[in-house]
Amino acid sequence: MDISRTSDVWWKNAVFYCLDVETFRDGNGDGIGDFIGLAQQIDYLAGLGVTCIWLMPFHPSTNRDDGYDISDYYAVDPRLGTLGDFVEFVRTARDRGIRVISDLVVNHTSREHPWFQAARSDRKSPYRDWYVWRDEVPKGGSDSLVFPGEEESNWEWDDKAGQFYLHRFYKHQPDLNIAHPKVREEIRRIIGFWLEVGLSGFRIDAVPFLLETEGITHEMTIAPHNWLRDLRSFLGRRCGDAMLLGEVNLEYEDVRRFYGDEGDELHMCLNFNLNQALALALVHQDAGALVHSLRAMPTLPRDAAWANFVRNHDEWSLDKLTEAERQEVFRAFGPTPEMQLFGRGLRRRLPTMLGGDQARMRLAYSLIFSLPGAPVLFYGEEIGLAENLDIPGRLSVRAPMQWSNEPNGGFSTAAPDNLSRPVVEGRKWGPAAINVADQERDPRSLLSWMERLIRRRRETPEIVFGDRRLVSVDEPEILALRYDWDGQASIIIHNLAAKDQKTSFKLDRPLGQDGLVDRFGEGDVSVGRDGSVSLSLAGYGYRWFRLRQSAENMAV
Ligand code: GLC
Ligand code: CA
Repeated sequence: MDISRTSDVWWKNAVFYCLDVETFRDGNGDGIGDFIGLAQQIDYLAGLGVTCIWLMPFHPSTNRDDGYDISDYYAVDPRLGTLGDFVEFVRTARDRGIRVISDLVVNHTSREHPWFQAARSDRKSPYRDWYVWRDEVPKGGSDSLVFPGEEESNWEWDDKAGQFYLHRFYKHQPDLNIAHPKVREEIRRIIGFWLEVGLSGFRIDAVPFLLETEGITHEMTIAPHNWLRDLRSFLGRRCGDAMLLGEVNLEYEDVRRFYGDEGDELHMCLNFNLNQALALALVHQDAGALVHSLRAMPTLPRDAAWANFVRNHDEWSLDKLTEAERQEVFRAFGPTPEMQLFGRGLRRRLPTMLGGDQARMRLAYSLIFSLPGAPVLFYGEEIGLAENLDIPGRLSVRAPMQWSNEPNGGFSTAAPDNLSRPVVEGRKWGPAAINVADQERDPRSLLSWMERLIRRRRETPEIVFGDRRLVSVDEPEILALRYDWDGQASIIIHNLAAKDQKTSFKLDRPLGQDGLVDRFGEGDVSVGRDGSVSLSLAGYGYRWFRLRQSAENMAV
C-alpha cells in the first residue's frame, strides 16, 4: 500500500467537518459564536478525528442568507472576531493536523456590497459591468427558480440603476458577471488572499450557476470550463496541495464534467446523487437505490473523489427523486408541511427523522463512511443534534451546538434571549438529553461510536483509492461492497432492514482465504475452501471486514 499517496492527495482520505462559526461556540459571551470559541474546541475536533474543517461563510455580510450574501471578501465578520483571531484559529488547527477550507461564494454578492452599490448608482462606474443588467426581462431564458415560493423571478428591477439585474438566488444576491475579465481577476485575488492567510482550499458555492453564462450579454472570451481549469491551476501554483470542493447538484454525468476531462478542474464534488439515493434506501429498507446509484456513479480522474454526506446545512433536497419517491420520503421523514421546504426537501436533521433510533442512525453513518469517497459531517451530527423547527426556513438545522447540559447547552454564557439563534428545546432533543460532555463520558454514546467510525474510515484508504465492486448477495436488504487497493482488501456489509438477516457470498479471489477480520469487534468470519462466506447481521447492522492475507497470497 502506497501510504504516501494518502498524504499527497490528502483530500481523498480526509474526514471533513462543516461548521458555522456563528453557531459553534461563543467565546466572549455576546450570544454569537466566534473564532475564539471555535479555537477552544480544536482539541475536541482533533479528538474526534476530523482532518479538515469546512467553514461556512465568515465574512462581513448582510446576513439575509446566513452569510452567503457577502459584502466584503477580504475581511472577517466583526461579530465572529478579527482577522487575527482567524489566523490564530487556523494555526492552532494546523498544529493538531487539521486543515481548514471555507466556502467561496462568488456567484453573487450581497446587494449591499460596495461593488453593487457603485454599479447601480452610475452607468459609467467601472463596477457597472461587474453585474448583469437588462432593460427588460429576457424572454425564453431559464425560468427555473432556486427558491420557489420565496422568489418569483431571476430578475429584479432596480430603480436607481434604471435596469433589471440578474439574481439566481435571493433578490438581495445579485449575480456577478463572470464574462468580465476584472471579475475573474478579482475571484483569483480572493482565492490568493485566503490561501496566503492559511486556508487549504475552498468549497465553491453553486458552481453550475457560477459557470452559467445564460442571461449575460457580455462576450465570454473564455469557455466557462476553461476558466474553471485556469482557476484550478492558479490555485495549484499558489499552494501546491490546496483543493477545490464543488457544490454541483446535477445528474452524475453532468457532475463528472466539473472534474474536467483531464482531472484538471474540481478535485471533489459533493455527492448529491448518492445522498438522495440514501434517503430512498433508508425509507425502503432496501439497498436497491444505493446499488443503482453506485452503478451510475461515473469513474473519476485519479486524484479526484466524491464527498459523501448524510445531511448538510441546507434542506435535505430530494430534487432528483421522482415525485412519487419524494412523497414517500416526505411521508416517512417529514410528514407535516412545516418540515418541508420548496416542495423538494426536508428541513430536518437525521436523528429526528429516524425517531432517535440509534441503530438506524449508525447504519446511515456507517454506510456513508464506507461508500466510495470522503465523508463530510455537518457539526453536531456526531452527537445526534436535532433541528429547531422554530428557526425559519433552512436555518432550522443550524441551531447552536450542544456542548453540555448547562444553560444554552454550554454554547454561550449570554442570556437566552440574546443568542443569535435559539437552542433546540425539549426533553428528548434539548441539551439535557443531547450534549458533548455526557457523551464523552459514555463509551456507548453516539459520539464515542463516531470517533471509532472515523478511526476505521481513516484506516481504510482502499475505500477511496481502491477498485470497488458490488459483492453479489441474494437479499435485497443487504449492500455488500468490496474494495481492493495494492494487495489490501476490505469487504463492508450493511443491512438496511430492521430485521436480522443471514447472507452468504463468494470471494472470487484467493485473497482472504484465511478469513475475514472483523474491524468493529463482533468476531472474525471464516472463509470456505471455495471462497464462500456465510454470516448474519443484526437489524440495521453493519460489518467492516478486512481480508486476512496469508504469506503465500501476499507474495502474489
Ligand atoms: C448554496 C448554499 C446555500 C446558499 C446558496 C446561495 O446552495 O449551500 O446555503 O443559500 O448557495 O449562496
Ligand atoms: Ca461571540
